[in-house]
Amino acid sequence: MHPVKMFLQYLILFLMLPLCSSTDTITPNQPFRDGDLLVSKESRFALGFFSPRNSTLRYIGVWYNTIREQTVVWVLNRDHPINDTSGVLSINTSGNLLLHRGNTHVWSTDVSISSVNPTVAQLLDTGNLVLIQKDDKMVVWQGFDYPTDNLIPHMKLGLNRRTGYNRFLTSWKSPTDPATGKYSLGFNVSGSPQIFLYQGSEPLWRSGHWNGLRWSGLPVMMYRFQHKVSFLNNQDEIYYMFIMVNASFLERLTVDHEGYIQRNMWQETEGKWFSFYTAPRDRCDRYGRCGPNSNCDNSQAEFECTCLAGFEPKSPRDLFLKDGSAGCLRKEGAKVCGNGEGFVKVGGAKPPDTSVARVNMNISMEACREECLKECSCSGYAAANVSGSGSGCLSWHGDLVDTRVFPEGGQNLYVRVDAITLGMLAFNCQDS
Ligand SMILES: *[C@@H]1O[C@H](CO)[C@@H](O)[C@H](O)[C@H]1NC(C)=O
Ligand SMILES: *[C@@H]1O[C@H](CO)[C@@H](O)[C@H](O)[C@H]1NC(C)=O
Ligand SMILES: *[C@@H]1O[C@H](CO)[C@@H](O)[C@H](O)[C@H]1NC(C)=O
Ligand SMILES: *[C@@H]1O[C@H](CO)[C@@H](O)[C@H](O)[C@H]1NC(C)=O
Ligand SMILES: *[C@@H]1O[C@H](CO)[C@@H](O)[C@H](O)[C@H]1NC(C)=O
Ligand SMILES: *[C@@H]1O[C@H](CO)[C@@H](O)[C@H](O)[C@H]1NC(C)=O
Ligand SMILES: *[C@@H]1O[C@H](CO)[C@@H](O)[C@H](O)[C@H]1NC(C)=O
Repeated sequence: MHPVKMFLQYLILFLMLPLCSSTDTITPNQPFRDGDLLVSKESRFALGFFSPRNSTLRYIGVWYNTIREQTVVWVLNRDHPINDTSGVLSINTSGNLLLHRGNTHVWSTDVSISSVNPTVAQLLDTGNLVLIQKDDKMVVWQGFDYPTDNLIPHMKLGLNRRTGYNRFLTSWKSPTDPATGKYSLGFNVSGSPQIFLYQGSEPLWRSGHWNGLRWSGLPVMMYRFQHKVSFLNNQDEIYYMFIMVNASFLERLTVDHEGYIQRNMWQETEGKWFSFYTAPRDRCDRYGRCGPNSNCDNSQAEFECTCLAGFEPKSPRDLFLKDGSAGCLRKEGAKVCGNGEGFVKVGGAKPPDTSVARVNMNISMEACREECLKECSCSGYAAANVSGSGSGCLSWHGDLVDTRVFPEGGQNLYVRVDAITLGMLAFNCQDS
């Protein structure tokens, strides 16, 4: 080859290099501009500016780098879009990551970095954007603590007890607007922790408590999936997380703008996402579909709401109108305190809302029953942990809210009833 030609080729290659090579890091003297791309070490995720469909606004997002369809799983400035391509993400002299447009401050990490240790921002192969101190590698801020609408493997949904910060997923406003929408998913840690889907502050769905094996409201978890679930509740944190058994499968849990939880799996052969689980999935999945002290049963052809044993409709007219939301009251004159009362078993149940339940993980089912019987205010009990023969105690002292039954995979709930109801059920040879 002619030497000049060769030189020119090398020159072109050299000039192209900075454009082709990608990095996973933003350093203090290397700001990140619209058009730049961070790619994680093993190329699993990318971070860059993007515009949603039908929009010209610019957002910084993280998406899968391995699939054709751009699927944004995390947005840095969802409520602070930039209206042109002049946004810059950089690290300032005090080590914070900030997004600005000219002199206008748009967003920043706002962490106090004590030492004079310089920081860098790095996109990890999990899709997590982290701000780390270069010398001791300490993470001072991470994007996974501020989820958008997607939970991806290794991302924790839940409460950091040390900081009091509770991570929620929040829907996009619409498919073309990543702004904070009205649906959110996260833990209510009262009583026995449960995951709730909320519309604003109103609960739409709940997972049920973690029963040692799975969420009590998700019997589908009996089946084998491509992911493994972990739930942790200790003095430091409460979280739910999933990881893939085989990391080459892509799966994400999304709260969509219409208020549904979707579990999506990437189908490489078809080049699209496939939703294999949706919640709420039926009428009884809707929080409080049947009011207090009733049971929701989808297999009832006529009407899904019935009163629990020993209770009667609060408003018979509503039941006639097929509206069970008013719920049920203890039967008039029923004596449940020191009058030969006992318990009736509701099999295959999703136990009532455990955010108001008392929890004692350390006692047997027999002890749980005794404790409940002794206290006149105790309206029912169930095993906290169904693994093995069942242990631990959940007890309710008031209305039993949002109980339902499943054709399979539910657990036993024991409802306090008066002696007459108990006798009637025994006479009918019912299990009590
Ligand atoms: C984008 O705009 C076009 C034309 O107005 C419309 O037909 C399409 O549904 C829009 N796409 C989305 C995702 O909203
Ligand atoms: C873009 O936003 C800036 C403020 O962030 C504003 O000053 C400017 O007028 C906007 N430009 C357009 C075309 O809307
Ligand atoms: C860097 O950004 C943070 C967060 O906005 C701000 O509190 C801090 O004052 C900035 N530091 C400097 C030196 O500008
Ligand atoms: C993971 O799945 C891919 C695609 O199906 C397969 O080629 C690979 O062997 C699997 N890896 C493991 C460790 O099972
Ligand atoms: C959690 O549940 C408790 C008891 O039902 C309720 O008082 C509280 O408001 C709930 N918290 C949230 C964040 O919904
Ligand atoms: C649970 O019970 C065991 C044995 O009865 C006892 O040693 C242990 O201290 C108890 N734990 C708690 C948290 O009460
Ligand atoms: C639940 O019960 C199983 C089997 O008895 C036990 O191994 C497990 O530690 C229990 N879990 C909790 C959280 O107590």
